[in-house]
Amino acid sequence: MPDVKTNFNQVINRHNTGSVKWDFIEHYLQLDGSDLLPMWVSDFDFKCPPEVQNALHSRVDHGIFGYSERDDHYYQAAMDWFAKRHNLQLKREWFTSVEGVVPGLALLIQMLSNPGDAVVIQGPYYGSFAKIITMNGRNVVENPLTENPQGYQFDFAQLESCFRQHTPPLLLLCNPHNPTGRCWTRDELTQLMTLCRAHGVTVISDEIWADLLLPGQTFTSVLHLDKDCQEQVIAATAASKTFGLSSLRISNFLIPNARMRGAFIDRLNAHGLDVFNALSMTAATAAYQHGEAWLDDLQRYLAENRRWFEQALGYAAPWCKMTRAEGTYLAWLDCRALGLDDDALQQALIHTSKIAPSMGRSFGSQGKGFIRINLGCPRQYLEDAIRGLAKLTP
Ligand SMILES: Cc1ncc(COP(=O)(O)O)c(C=O)c1O
Repeated sequence: MPDVKTNFNQVINRHNTGSVKWDFIEHYLQLDGSDLLPMWVSDFDFKCPPEVQNALHSRVDHGIFGYSERDDHYYQAAMDWFAKRHNLQLKREWFTSVEGVVPGLALLIQMLSNPGDAVVIQGPYYGSFAKIITMNGRNVVENPLTENPQGYQFDFAQLESCFRQHTPPLLLLCNPHNPTGRCWTRDELTQLMTLCRAHGVTVISDEIWADLLLPGQTFTSVLHLDKDCQEQVIAATAASKTFGLSSLRISNFLIPNARMRGAFIDRLNAHGLDVFNALSMTAATAAYQHGEAWLDDLQRYLAENRRWFEQALGYAAPWCKMTRAEGTYLAWLDCRALGLDDDALQQALIHTSKIAPSMGRSFGSQGKGFIRINLGCPRQYLEDAIRGLAKLTP
């Protein structure tokens, strides 16, 4: 196969592809999006690795799309990936698969808690966490992260009092953390798990961003921790965020605890969720088998995008402060110096800056005065965003 390098600077028109980010701004954000630069949904504007496209072409050319199952190649590719990229040895029997991380989290919330129970999340939190907790009749209980010049941190004292007060059965962890970009360290995770174990709280760790690290960073999964922790953790992972395959739909929930895993598989079967999409498996397998060099290039591009954007903000919109991150392609921007409430901030971004970010308030009360923008795009879009932000002044 020719070694085709992806040109991440290439601008590709995504309109009229059913793209939520580009074609559905009006539908989801209730705004006229025609002249706005979409920087909200977290998917990137790059083609997936050429090896993945080739694998998909061959599979499509085969032409038969009958019922399909995950085969040896699928499991082996994922296990090899985690061993090589993250020094994490996964066992094949831990794998359960659901079409997406969010639907899997929702099913696990149903399975591991009762209506009316508290489920802990750490704000600013990914909005879908709160949505699936409340829409399943459970209560969101917040353990807010603390803001710090070094990046956000856990508040263990607050977490302990939250456990005592609400006796939650579950905590949803996000690692690396959307929106702040923190990658939790082994020490932080160990301390978190010690508290959770002492209070009988199961941790579901959403690790969908694990591969998107900034240079010099390493990823620690809850599955890297001591064996004793494994009975009480579930890790969710997918190739989708890493390789730009979000609409193809397959994710893995790794569950070392055999009883919990069995119960989850029963639950999937109870919903008829035991058939897998052939194209999603082809794509994920090819990505894990052949996507490494491409991902290295992508990570370099994203790191350079982040460096450039932060520097440009410093000149063009110094009121806007970028949170220090260790991973993801998200920038969590503190706009409080503008002195606007969230409605006024949104209006200014839309009408003056002409950008559609994710508004911080959709990440809970911790997000007030912040916006999240997506740096996973050709540099040209970031230049446009900077020009727009430069028009705002405190
Ligand atoms: C932390 C986190 N989890 C899950 C998802 C979505 O996962 P899926 O599309 O597999 O449901 C996202 C997407 O942005 C995310 O940021």
